[in-house]
Amino acid sequence: MDYLEEIQKRRTFAIISHPDAGKTTLTEKLLLFGGAIHVAGAVKSNKIKRDTASDFMEIERQRGISVATSVMGFDYRGLRINLLDTPGHKDFAEDTYRTLTAVDSVILVVDCVKGVETQTERLMEVCRMRKTPVIIFINKMDREGKNPFDLINELEDKLNITARPLSWPVSMGSSFRGVYNLYDRSLYLFNPGGNTLPDDDGLAIDDLNDPLLDKLLSDHASQLRDDAALIEGVCAPFEKSQYLDGNVAPVFFGSAINNFGVRELLDTFIAIAPGPGARPAESRVVTPHEKNFSGFVFKIHANLDPRHRDRIAFLRICSGKFERNKLYHHVRLGKTLRFRSPASFMAQEKVLIEDAYPGDVIGLYDTGNFKIGDSLTEGERIMFQGIPNFSPEIFKEVVNTDPAKAKQLAKGIQQLTDEGVAQLFTQNQGNRKIIGTVGELQFEVIQYRLLHEYGASCRFNPLDFFKACWITSEDGQNIKAFCRYKTERLAADKDGNLVFFAESRWRLQREMEDNPEIKFHFTSEFRTVEENCNSAAPPVRPHASYPLP
Ligand code: G4P
Repeated sequence: MDYLEEIQKRRTFAIISHPDAGKTTLTEKLLLFGGAIHVAGAVKSNKIKRDTASDFMEIERQRGISVATSVMGFDYRGLRINLLDTPGHKDFAEDTYRTLTAVDSVILVVDCVKGVETQTERLMEVCRMRKTPVIIFINKMDREGKNPFDLINELEDKLNITARPLSWPVSMGSSFRGVYNLYDRSLYLFNPGGNTLPDDDGLAIDDLNDPLLDKLLSDHASQLRDDAALIEGVCAPFEKSQYLDGNVAPVFFGSAINNFGVRELLDTFIAIAPGPGARPAESRVVTPHEKNFSGFVFKIHANLDPRHRDRIAFLRICSGKFERNKLYHHVRLGKTLRFRSPASFMAQEKVLIEDAYPGDVIGLYDTGNFKIGDSLTEGERIMFQGIPNFSPEIFKEVVNTDPAKAKQLAKGIQQLTDEGVAQLFTQNQGNRKIIGTVGELQFEVIQYRLLHEYGASCRFNPLDFFKACWITSEDGQNIKAFCRYKTERLAADKDGNLVFFAESRWRLQREMEDNPEIKFHFTSEFRTVEENCNSAAPPVRPHASYPLP
């Protein structure tokens, strides 16, 4: 198979949902169809029920330290499908956002009883921002849920996207009879399924006036005819290009737990979902067809086995062919690295690979070279965009409670923040360490991991800050003037960039108005490749300012 064919056969996507909508169940059923697993129950839910660190860590451990399920590759109808896992818990939303940079499309699961929930709205915002194509699966149709037309309206209102039903349910809950596929004009009858694969194909019914429909659906047939006429009357015909541009989301209905609507979803997915797309880098757009290899790290996973301190960096390949044992250029460090045992993840197994192609996600064993957002190339200085740190909203000072373990604590904090668990800010020449996160749970996770993986103990002193933002200016004198009398509210991030802590939204607004010459940035993605490669010196240069989020 040649290089082009290899690229064309790849489909890399993520399933996203509000917790409990059915992401884990759907993932599992897709893997069953793909032959990647043979029994249901093999994919552990990443649901955190008690909201505590030990619960989270236990789940991580049960899932084989998440590594096995971080990427789930399988072959289906001649295509290589890479399904990337996203954490369900809202405190780990940043991890999900970063994973979304590594996919080419998304399946969004919505619970028909609950409709669009907050987490769904936030995740969808990220997809819209990046114009990621989205297919929506409305799940749990075996339950009495919201009226399907109301659901479609809710999707459009809350997610700000045109929702185009490609299948339509025949009733729901206890009287759920199945779905009619408006695209291939077939009827799929509901047959509560469980864990095995249903092999029944849809029944082709081209004309909804066919009397067979009355025979099969009795009273529900006329409702389906009315609904279908209304949809065809109101909705524009489905155009694949509109979906690929991220403007229209095709909608399917089903019940993941009953294996219903899942194969239909998967078959449509492979028919319309995009293959590996171009990726914006700081200086140019990188296309998958380029000969030279490039890729970026979007996730780092520490091995939780305390005896082994190695980590796995997950790299999305953007262009060219990756080869085992070849020398590659680590752009930020300016180092040349060779990877002896790169892994891919097929059918939940880690497999040593010889090569990999755009769209693939590979695991690289790392001894501390990688940070999230790092890129690997054949020499070109490329920094990919869209993998930022967001300005955190919860801040705590780290207080060492075991002075004999100060070194371990420093190392642990360094490594955990490299993984993207949280952000580290330092004051007072590095002597005062402040951790910033977007969720409370991360602090518990950090404390737990510092103790279990590094033998270090600490406590956290809450700090009353509203937000941290990166500050820059065209003129270094402006920064100097701004910084005067603000030592308590200034810190350096891990790369030495200057960060300002605002106590309140009002205060931040005031500072922005009073200091128009200073730019306040709400994501870390404002550095140039040079600044990233030489991050000891804080950048002082013009930038577009960001609106207050
Ligand atoms: P998540 O990953 O999005 O958090 O959701 P998950 O798949 O874990 O599903 C959440 C709950 O919804 C699970 O029940 C699951 O069995 C149920 N579920 C998933 N799909 C369907 C469906 O099509 N119909 C119905 N009725 N339920 C569905 P649970 O009680 O929380 O867990 P479990 O004890 O069943 O594992």
